[in-house]
Amino acid sequence: MRIERIGVVGAGIMGSGIAEVCARAGAQVVLADQAPDLATASVERITASLQRGVDRGKLAQAEADVALARITPVETLAAMSDRQLVIEAVIEDPETKLKVFGALDEVVEDPAAILASNTSSIPIMQLAMATQRRERVVGLHFFNPVPVMRLVEVVPSLLTDDSTIAEVTAFAGEALGKRVVRSKDRAGFVVNALLVPYLLSAIRMLEAGFATAEDIDAGMVEGAAHPMGPLTLTDLVGLDTTKAVAESLYEEFKEPLFAPPPLLSRMVDAGLLGRKAGRGFYTYD
Ligand code: CAA
Repeated sequence: MRIERIGVVGAGIMGSGIAEVCARAGAQVVLADQAPDLATASVERITASLQRGVDRGKLAQAEADVALARITPVETLAAMSDRQLVIEAVIEDPETKLKVFGALDEVVEDPAAILASNTSSIPIMQLAMATQRRERVVGLHFFNPVPVMRLVEVVPSLLTDDSTIAEVTAFAGEALGKRVVRSKDRAGFVVNALLVPYLLSAIRMLEAGFATAEDIDAGMVEGAAHPMGPLTLTDLVGLDTTKAVAESLYEEFKEPLFAPPPLLSRMVDAGLLGRKAGRGFYTYD
Protein backbone atom coordinates (compact mmCIF):
# COMPACT_ATOMS: atom_id res chain seq x y z
CA MET A 1 0.00 0.00 0.00
CA ARG A 2 1.36 3.42 -0.94
CA ILE A 3 0.84 5.93 1.86
CA GLU A 4 -0.34 9.18 0.29
CA ARG A 5 -2.70 10.73 2.85
CA ILE A 6 -0.96 11.59 6.09
CA GLY A 7 -2.07 13.33 9.25
CA VAL A 8 0.27 14.97 11.74
CA VAL A 9 -1.10 15.89 15.17
CA GLY A 10 0.85 18.56 17.04
CA ALA A 11 2.30 21.50 15.15
CA GLY A 12 5.35 22.18 17.31
CA ILE A 13 8.93 21.86 16.12
CA MET A 14 8.77 18.08 15.59
CA GLY A 15 5.28 18.03 14.05
CA SER A 16 6.25 20.82 11.65
CA GLY A 17 9.39 18.97 10.61
CA ILE A 18 7.52 15.71 10.12
CA ALA A 19 4.83 17.44 8.04
CA GLU A 20 7.57 19.05 5.94
CA VAL A 21 9.43 15.83 5.12
CA CYS A 22 6.17 14.00 4.34
CA ALA A 23 5.06 16.79 1.98
CA ARG A 24 8.51 16.85 0.36
CA ALA A 25 8.11 13.12 -0.26
CA GLY A 26 4.88 13.78 -2.19
CA ALA A 27 2.21 13.05 0.44
CA GLN A 28 -0.85 15.19 1.16
CA VAL A 29 -0.54 16.27 4.80
CA VAL A 30 -3.20 17.49 7.22
CA LEU A 31 -1.47 19.17 10.18
CA ALA A 32 -3.60 19.58 13.30
CA ASP A 33 -3.10 21.49 16.51
CA GLN A 34 -5.75 22.37 19.05
CA ALA A 35 -4.11 25.64 20.05
CA PRO A 36 -5.68 28.31 17.83
CA ASP A 37 -3.38 29.47 15.06
CA LEU A 38 -0.58 27.08 16.03
CA ALA A 39 -0.94 24.98 12.89
CA THR A 40 -0.94 28.16 10.83
CA ALA A 41 2.15 29.46 12.64
CA SER A 42 3.80 26.15 11.96
CA VAL A 43 3.32 26.69 8.23
CA GLU A 44 5.54 29.78 8.60
CA ARG A 45 8.20 27.61 10.24
CA ILE A 46 7.93 25.07 7.43
CA THR A 47 8.15 27.84 4.82
CA ALA A 48 11.38 29.09 6.42
CA SER A 49 12.82 25.56 6.55
CA LEU A 50 11.93 24.88 2.91
CA GLN A 51 13.62 28.15 2.01
CA ARG A 52 16.77 27.03 3.86
CA GLY A 53 16.63 23.81 1.85
CA VAL A 54 16.38 25.83 -1.39
CA ASP A 55 19.23 28.17 -0.31
CA ARG A 56 21.44 25.16 0.37
CA GLY A 57 20.62 23.56 -2.97
CA LYS A 58 18.68 20.61 -1.51
CA LEU A 59 15.53 21.28 -3.51
CA ALA A 60 14.28 23.60 -6.26
CA GLN A 61 12.03 26.55 -5.47
CA ALA A 62 9.21 24.91 -7.45
CA GLU A 63 9.52 21.73 -5.37
CA ALA A 64 9.41 23.78 -2.17
CA ASP A 65 6.26 25.57 -3.38
CA VAL A 66 4.55 22.29 -4.28
CA ALA A 67 5.52 20.75 -0.91
CA LEU A 68 4.08 23.70 0.99
CA ALA A 69 0.84 23.52 -0.99
CA ARG A 70 0.47 19.87 0.08
CA ILE A 71 0.15 20.86 3.77
CA THR A 72 -3.27 21.83 5.15
CA PRO A 73 -3.32 23.30 8.67
CA VAL A 74 -6.43 22.47 10.73
CA GLU A 75 -7.58 23.02 14.32
CA THR A 76 -9.53 19.81 14.99
CA LEU A 77 -8.91 16.10 14.55
CA ALA A 78 -12.05 15.66 12.42
CA ALA A 79 -9.98 16.25 9.27
CA MET A 80 -8.03 13.06 10.04
CA SER A 81 -10.98 10.82 9.08
CA ASP A 82 -9.61 9.72 5.65
CA ARG A 83 -5.92 9.44 6.59
CA GLN A 84 -3.91 6.26 5.90
CA LEU A 85 -1.23 7.16 8.47
CA VAL A 86 -1.45 9.61 11.35
CA ILE A 87 1.72 10.60 13.20
CA GLU A 88 1.16 12.05 16.66
CA ALA A 89 3.75 14.64 17.77
CA VAL A 90 2.12 16.43 20.71
CA ILE A 91 3.92 17.28 23.97
CA GLU A 92 5.76 14.49 25.76
CA ASP A 93 3.01 14.00 28.35
CA PRO A 94 1.43 10.54 28.71
CA GLU A 95 -2.07 11.80 29.54
CA THR A 96 -2.16 14.14 26.54
CA LYS A 97 -0.89 11.45 24.19
CA LEU A 98 -3.37 8.86 25.48
CA LYS A 99 -6.22 11.29 24.86
CA VAL A 100 -5.00 11.95 21.31
CA PHE A 101 -4.76 8.22 20.55
CA GLY A 102 -8.26 7.56 21.91
CA ALA A 103 -9.65 10.43 19.82
CA LEU A 104 -7.79 9.39 16.67
CA ASP A 105 -9.05 5.83 16.99
CA GLU A 106 -12.62 7.17 16.86
CA VAL A 107 -12.05 9.70 14.08
CA VAL A 108 -9.87 7.76 11.61
CA GLU A 109 -12.38 5.72 9.63
CA ASP A 110 -10.30 2.98 8.00
CA PRO A 111 -9.57 0.40 10.73
CA ALA A 112 -6.41 -0.53 8.79
CA ALA A 113 -5.04 3.03 8.98
CA ILE A 114 -1.88 3.25 11.04
CA LEU A 115 -1.60 5.40 14.16
CA ALA A 116 2.04 6.23 14.89
CA SER A 117 3.66 8.20 17.70
CA ASN A 118 6.75 10.36 17.60
CA THR A 119 7.16 9.89 21.35
CA SER A 120 10.75 9.79 22.56
CA SER A 121 10.11 7.60 25.55
CA ILE A 122 6.48 6.82 26.40
CA PRO A 123 5.68 3.10 25.97
CA ILE A 124 3.98 2.43 22.61
CA MET A 125 2.07 -0.36 24.37
CA GLN A 126 0.28 2.21 26.56
CA LEU A 127 -0.67 4.32 23.53
CA ALA A 128 -1.92 1.25 21.66
CA MET A 129 -4.13 0.27 24.62
CA ALA A 130 -5.97 3.58 24.26
CA THR A 131 -7.24 2.32 20.87
CA GLN A 132 -9.19 -0.61 19.44
CA ARG A 133 -6.57 -1.16 16.68
CA ARG A 134 -3.62 -2.19 18.80
CA GLU A 135 -1.95 -4.10 15.96
CA ARG A 136 -1.91 -0.89 13.83
CA VAL A 137 -0.19 1.30 16.47
CA VAL A 138 3.58 1.81 16.25
CA GLY A 139 6.36 4.21 17.30
CA LEU A 140 7.88 6.31 14.51
CA HIS A 141 10.50 8.48 16.16
CA PHE A 142 12.14 11.32 14.23
CA PHE A 143 15.07 13.54 15.24
CA ASN A 144 15.40 17.30 15.41
CA PRO A 145 15.84 19.01 12.95
CA VAL A 146 13.69 16.51 11.04
CA PRO A 147 14.56 17.64 7.48
CA VAL A 148 18.28 17.28 8.27
CA MET A 149 18.58 14.29 10.61
CA ARG A 150 18.64 11.03 8.66
CA LEU A 151 17.40 8.64 11.36
CA VAL A 152 13.95 7.28 12.20
CA GLU A 153 13.38 4.70 14.95
CA VAL A 154 10.58 2.20 14.30
CA VAL A 155 9.22 0.87 17.58
CA PRO A 156 6.65 -1.95 17.56
CA SER A 157 4.74 -2.73 20.75
CA LEU A 158 4.07 -6.31 21.84
CA LEU A 159 0.86 -6.22 19.75
CA THR A 160 1.98 -4.40 16.58
CA ASP A 161 1.53 -6.71 13.58
CA ASP A 162 4.20 -7.45 10.96
CA SER A 163 2.40 -5.65 8.14
CA THR A 164 2.31 -2.41 10.17
CA ILE A 165 6.04 -2.69 10.83
CA ALA A 166 6.72 -3.39 7.16
CA GLU A 167 4.54 -0.49 5.94
CA VAL A 168 6.03 2.18 8.24
CA THR A 169 9.56 0.87 7.62
CA ALA A 170 9.03 1.15 3.85
CA PHE A 171 7.47 4.57 4.26
CA ALA A 172 10.28 6.01 6.42
CA GLY A 173 13.04 4.26 4.48
CA GLU A 174 11.88 4.46 0.87
CA ALA A 175 9.42 7.37 0.69
CA LEU A 176 11.17 9.66 3.20
CA GLY A 177 14.69 8.37 2.47
CA LYS A 178 15.54 7.98 6.17
CA ARG A 179 17.82 5.37 7.75
CA VAL A 180 15.51 3.17 9.82
CA VAL A 181 16.58 1.42 13.00
CA ARG A 182 14.29 -0.89 14.94
CA SER A 183 14.03 -0.71 18.71
CA LYS A 184 12.09 -2.66 21.29
CA ASP A 185 9.44 -0.75 23.20
CA ARG A 186 11.70 0.33 26.06
CA ALA A 187 11.88 3.90 27.38
CA GLY A 188 14.23 6.03 25.29
CA PHE A 189 14.46 3.44 22.50
CA VAL A 190 18.02 3.27 21.14
CA VAL A 191 19.05 6.89 20.74
CA ASN A 192 17.61 8.64 23.79
CA ALA A 193 18.57 5.81 26.14
CA LEU A 194 22.15 6.62 25.14
CA LEU A 195 21.91 10.36 24.47
CA VAL A 196 19.87 11.64 27.42
CA PRO A 197 22.15 10.38 30.25
CA TYR A 198 25.01 12.12 28.41
CA LEU A 199 23.05 15.41 28.26
CA LEU A 200 22.12 15.06 31.96
CA SER A 201 25.79 14.45 32.84
CA ALA A 202 26.73 17.70 31.12
CA ILE A 203 24.04 19.55 33.11
CA ARG A 204 25.32 18.02 36.36
CA MET A 205 28.84 19.02 35.40
CA LEU A 206 27.70 22.62 34.88
CA GLU A 207 25.66 22.56 38.10
CA ALA A 208 28.68 21.37 40.08
CA GLY A 209 30.84 24.22 38.73
CA PHE A 210 33.13 21.67 37.10
CA ALA A 211 33.45 23.79 33.91
CA THR A 212 31.63 26.58 32.10
CA ALA A 213 28.84 25.84 29.60
CA GLU A 214 31.05 27.09 26.76
CA ASP A 215 33.95 24.87 27.81
CA ILE A 216 31.77 21.79 28.27
CA ASP A 217 30.36 22.29 24.77
CA ALA A 218 33.71 23.12 23.22
CA GLY A 219 35.12 19.96 24.81
CA MET A 220 32.72 17.73 22.94
CA VAL A 221 32.78 19.70 19.66
CA GLU A 222 36.54 20.08 19.43
CA GLY A 223 37.57 17.01 21.39
CA ALA A 224 35.05 14.43 20.23
CA ALA A 225 33.91 15.85 16.86
CA HIS A 226 30.25 16.18 17.85
CA PRO A 227 28.37 18.67 15.64
CA MET A 228 27.22 20.58 18.74
CA GLY A 229 28.00 20.38 22.44
CA PRO A 230 25.59 18.77 24.95
CA LEU A 231 24.21 22.02 26.40
CA THR A 232 23.62 23.54 22.95
CA LEU A 233 21.96 20.27 21.97
CA THR A 234 19.75 20.31 25.10
CA ASP A 235 18.69 23.84 24.12
CA LEU A 236 17.82 22.50 20.64
CA VAL A 237 15.88 19.48 21.93
CA GLY A 238 14.09 21.64 24.55
CA LEU A 239 14.70 21.44 28.30
CA ASP A 240 11.08 20.39 28.89
CA THR A 241 11.39 17.51 26.43
CA THR A 242 14.77 16.50 27.87
CA LYS A 243 13.28 16.45 31.39
CA ALA A 244 10.23 14.48 30.24
CA VAL A 245 12.42 11.87 28.54
CA ALA A 246 14.67 11.66 31.62
CA GLU A 247 11.62 11.07 33.82
CA SER A 248 10.37 8.27 31.57
CA LEU A 249 13.82 6.66 31.57
CA TYR A 250 14.08 6.96 35.36
CA GLU A 251 10.58 5.57 35.82
CA GLU A 252 11.43 2.58 33.61
CA PHE A 253 14.96 1.68 34.77
CA LYS A 254 15.38 3.41 38.19
CA GLU A 255 19.01 4.19 37.35
CA PRO A 256 20.24 7.38 39.12
CA LEU A 257 21.96 8.54 35.93
CA PHE A 258 18.52 9.00 34.33
CA ALA A 259 17.14 11.24 37.12
CA PRO A 260 16.69 14.88 36.02
CA PRO A 261 19.24 17.09 37.81
CA PRO A 262 17.75 19.92 39.96
CA LEU A 263 19.20 22.61 37.65
CA LEU A 264 17.23 21.15 34.73
CA SER A 265 14.02 21.06 36.78
CA ARG A 266 14.43 24.66 37.99
CA MET A 267 15.13 25.90 34.47
CA VAL A 268 11.99 24.17 33.20
CA ASP A 269 10.01 25.74 36.10
CA ALA A 270 11.41 29.12 35.02
CA GLY A 271 10.37 28.65 31.40
CA LEU A 272 13.99 28.60 30.24
CA LEU A 273 13.22 25.88 27.73
CA GLY A 274 16.05 26.47 25.27
CA ARG A 275 16.08 27.74 21.74
CA LYS A 276 12.29 27.75 21.27
CA ALA A 277 11.90 30.01 24.37
CA GLY A 278 14.78 32.32 23.41
CA ARG A 279 16.76 31.24 26.49
CA GLY A 280 18.10 28.04 27.98
CA PHE A 281 21.76 27.45 28.72
CA TYR A 282 22.37 30.17 26.13
CA THR A 283 20.28 33.07 24.84
CA TYR A 284 18.90 33.28 21.30
CA ASP A 285 17.54 36.19 19.23
N1 CAA B 1 16.22 21.16 4.44
C1 CAA B 1 17.11 20.28 3.90
N2 CAA B 1 18.41 20.23 4.21
C2 CAA B 1 18.86 21.13 5.09
C3 CAA B 1 18.01 22.06 5.70
C4 CAA B 1 16.63 22.06 5.35
N3 CAA B 1 15.77 22.90 5.88
N4 CAA B 1 18.75 22.81 6.55
C5 CAA B 1 19.99 22.34 6.48
N5 CAA B 1 20.08 21.33 5.59
C6 CAA B 1 21.26 20.53 5.26
C7 CAA B 1 22.41 21.38 4.76
O1 CAA B 1 22.34 21.56 3.38
C8 CAA B 1 23.62 20.55 5.14
O2 CAA B 1 23.74 19.48 4.23
P1 CAA B 1 25.21 19.02 3.66
O3 CAA B 1 25.94 18.52 4.88
O4 CAA B 1 24.87 17.96 2.68
O5 CAA B 1 25.79 20.27 3.10
C9 CAA B 1 23.19 19.94 6.48
O6 CAA B 1 21.75 19.94 6.45
C10 CAA B 1 23.67 20.76 7.67
O7 CAA B 1 23.09 22.05 7.57
P2 CAA B 1 23.78 23.41 8.06
O8 CAA B 1 25.10 23.57 7.42
O9 CAA B 1 22.83 24.52 7.92
O10 CAA B 1 23.84 23.20 9.58
P3 CAA B 1 25.06 22.98 10.55
O11 CAA B 1 26.24 22.40 9.88
O12 CAA B 1 25.16 24.24 11.32
O13 CAA B 1 24.42 21.82 11.47
C11 CAA B 1 22.79 20.69 12.72
C12 CAA B 1 23.20 22.02 12.14
C13 CAA B 1 22.37 19.73 11.62
C14 CAA B 1 21.59 20.96 13.63
C15 CAA B 1 24.00 20.10 13.49
O14 CAA B 1 24.47 21.01 14.41
C16 CAA B 1 23.66 18.82 14.18
O15 CAA B 1 23.63 17.77 13.58
N6 CAA B 1 23.42 18.90 15.51
C17 CAA B 1 23.03 17.75 16.31
C18 CAA B 1 21.56 17.55 16.17
C19 CAA B 1 21.10 16.34 16.93
O16 CAA B 1 21.85 15.64 17.57
N7 CAA B 1 19.79 16.13 16.86
C20 CAA B 1 19.16 15.05 17.57
C21 CAA B 1 18.53 15.59 18.81
S1 CAA B 1 17.80 14.30 19.75
C22 CAA B 1 16.26 14.22 19.16
O17 CAA B 1 15.81 14.94 18.33
C23 CAA B 1 15.47 13.12 19.68
C24 CAA B 1 14.63 13.33 20.83
O18 CAA B 1 13.69 12.60 20.94
C25 CAA B 1 14.90 14.29 21.90
